[in-house]
Amino acid sequence: MKEGAQATSQSRVVYDRLAAHYDRAMRPLEGWLLARLRAKLMTELPMGGRILEVGAGTGANFAYYSDEARGAASELSREMLKRAREKKRPTQVHLVCNKAEQLPFADASFDAAFATLVFCSVVSPTQAFAELRRVVRPGGRVVLLEHVRPEGLLGKVFDALSLVTVPLFDDHFNRQTAREAQRAGLQVERVDKHLRGIVQLIVCRV
Ligand SMILES: C[S@@+](CC[C@H](N)C(=O)[O-])C[C@H]1O[C@@H](n2cnc3c(N)ncnc32)[C@H](O)[C@@H]1O
Repeated sequence: MKEGAQATSQSRVVYDRLAAHYDRAMRPLEGWLLARLRAKLMTELPMGGRILEVGAGTGANFAYYSDEARGAASELSREMLKRAREKKRPTQVHLVCNKAEQLPFADASFDAAFATLVFCSVVSPTQAFAELRRVVRPGGRVVLLEHVRPEGLLGKVFDALSLVTVPLFDDHFNRQTAREAQRAGLQVERVDKHLRGIVQLIVCRV
């Protein structure tokens, strides 16, 4: 197995294990901050367009989709996806099991794509962004809600935290996601910073 493929299957194992506890563990954060930001992210997506969600997890965003939404919600872990399947979602949003680095969709098949708390886990953000650039039509939007490495001294703390969180939860606390999106060729139009820049809403155009 190639190194990247091995790391991806490791991510799958980690999230398969976390799936049963995920929603409960996230509940305090949802009430405090995430629910509001999830709702905000949805307002950045085009109404009526075909939408792709990557790393949909247990379907935490489904409650914020409009009833008319159509497209696909993709996820790597079968156990996370099993929980997502149990949640109510718009009838025209289909669930797909696959990795963000290799999307099973034709070029330009979506008007927009989004991800929440996913780019801290994907093995190759560069490859995943290349796939988003391919499957979202030129001029379409890619919107991300991510926790990232903050600037300044706190950044060093997050570098240290990553040494623990990567082996435990497959979670990189020091990703610089907006910068990586830009490097991968997306146009970063806006970055809204929350919690001293630790949580960012990143709005990009293909
Ligand atoms: C922290 S959870 C976030 C789930 C959901 N988006 C949310 O906001 O609650 C990260 C999710 O990304 C998924 N993931 C990790 N690596 C992935 C990859 N390479 N491709 C697709 N999904 C991936 C995990 O399986 C997990 O469901």
